[in-house]
Amino acid sequence: MRDLSPRPGDLEPIETASLDELRALQTERLRWSVRHAYDHVPHYRRALDAVGVHPDDVRELADVARLPFTTKADLRENYPFGMFAVPREQVARVHASSGTTGKPTVVGYTHDDLEVWASVVARSLRAAGARGGMVLHNAYGYGLFTGGLGVHAGAERLGMTVVPVSGGMTERQVQLICDFRPDVVTVTPSYLLAVVDEMERQGVDPRSTSLQVGVFGAEPWTDDMRREVEQRLDMHAVDIYGLSEVIGPGVASECVETKDGLHVWEDHFYPEVVDPVTGEVLPDGERGELVLTSLTKQAMPVLRYRTRDLTRLLPGTARTMRRIEKVTGRTDDMLILRGVNLFPTQIEELVLGLPALSPHFQCRLTREGTLDALTVVVEHRGGVARADADAASAELRRLVKASIGVSVDVEVVAPGAVERSVGKMRRVVDERPAR
Ligand code: DLL
Repeated sequence: MRDLSPRPGDLEPIETASLDELRALQTERLRWSVRHAYDHVPHYRRALDAVGVHPDDVRELADVARLPFTTKADLRENYPFGMFAVPREQVARVHASSGTTGKPTVVGYTHDDLEVWASVVARSLRAAGARGGMVLHNAYGYGLFTGGLGVHAGAERLGMTVVPVSGGMTERQVQLICDFRPDVVTVTPSYLLAVVDEMERQGVDPRSTSLQVGVFGAEPWTDDMRREVEQRLDMHAVDIYGLSEVIGPGVASECVETKDGLHVWEDHFYPEVVDPVTGEVLPDGERGELVLTSLTKQAMPVLRYRTRDLTRLLPGTARTMRRIEKVTGRTDDMLILRGVNLFPTQIEELVLGLPALSPHFQCRLTREGTLDALTVVVEHRGGVARADADAASAELRRLVKASIGVSVDVEVVAPGAVERSVGKMRRVVDERPAR
C-alpha cells in the first residue's frame, strides 16, 4: 500500500493549532451557537428556560454540561421545519433520514452551512489520504441520505474528479472501477464487500484495481473488517463518521498515517461522552454515549444531541483535535439475550477470525416461549467443503459462548444467501412476535 501521509503544508492551520487556540475558538463559537438557538428556535428557548439557563450563563466550555440534551424525539416533534433557526427561504437544502417508524428526521442547511460541510468533508478525505487531482468513485447513496451529496461536495472542494455512481447496480460499479481507474472509493463497508464479490464473479482480481484507499462509514465496522478489506483489495481502509442531525458525513475522520480512531473536527462540533442511563458527563477515556453540539451551524443548530453511538474520547495524535474510538455499536442495536449485552460487531470480529466463513452475516432474533433466541446466519466462503463449514459453525458457537457469555445458534449458508444491501446493512432481523 502506498504511503499517503500528508506532506508539509497539506493541512489547514486549525488541524495543528495549539489546544489553547482551539479551546478559545470553541468557546467563542459555543456562545454564539447557544445564543443563536435560543433566539431563533422556540424549542431551545423553552428547553433552556425550563432548566433556568440563559445564553449569557454560557461563559466557558464546561458550561455546555448545563444545557439540556436534544434527542431524535425533539426533532420528530418539530417535524418538518420547526427546528430551523432561519427563515425557510434561507434554507438552501434539506436532507432527511428515514427512521424505522413514523416520520423521517428533517435537517436543513444554509449556503454557509453547505460551505462548512464541504470543507469538513474535504478535510476528512484528505485525512484519509485523498488529494486534489485523484479520481473518486462515490458509491454512497445520493438523495435524502447525506452520504452521497455530502461526500460529493467535499471531494469537489478538494479538487478531485468525482464519479457520482451512488449505490446499486453492482455489476456496473465493477465496470466503472475497472474503466475509470479511481484512486479512492467512498461506500458503506457492507456494500464494498458486495462489490468485491462481484469483482471476483467477473474474474477481476480485487488486488489489481487502481484503488488506493477506501473511506468507509455510515455503519459500524471493526478493525478485523479493516484487515479483511486491506488484505483483499491491497488498499488503505479508513473510517469516516457523521450523522445527519449534526451535519452528515465529516463530523470525525481517521487519518491514514495513524488509523487509530477518528479525529472529531472540534472547531465545528463539540463532543462529550455521557453515561447513557444517567446522562452524567464522563471523563475522557471512559466509554459511553457520544453527545455533540454544533458550533457554527446556522440553519439547524443542535445543542447536546444524543447520538446513541457508543465510544470514548481520546487525546489527539495525528491532529490536535481529540479522537473518538471506532464506533462499534449504538445503544439501540444492543441485543440483550438472557441478561447478556451483545453487539453485532462482536459477532463480526469472531466471524472474521474463522477462515471458512465470509463477512456476510445477519443476526436473527426469535422467541421460543418466553425466551429470546439468537441465530447467526453466516455465509461460508466460496470453495469451502461442507465439513469445514460445519466445523466453523460449531467453532463460532463455542467462541460466542466463551467470549460473550451467551449461547446462540449458528446457521452456515451458501455464498449469496444472506441479503445484500446497497447502503447500510441490516445486521439484526427481529422476527419476535409483538408482545
Ligand atoms: O450515516 C452519515 C454518513 C454518511 C457517515 C456516509 C459516514 C459516511 P445517518 O444516516 O444520519 O448519517 O446515520 C448516522 O450512522 O449515528 C451511527 O450510528 C452510524 N454511523 C455513521 N458513521 C459511522 C461510522 C450517516 N463510521 C448514524 N462507524 C450514526 C459507525 C457510523 N457507525
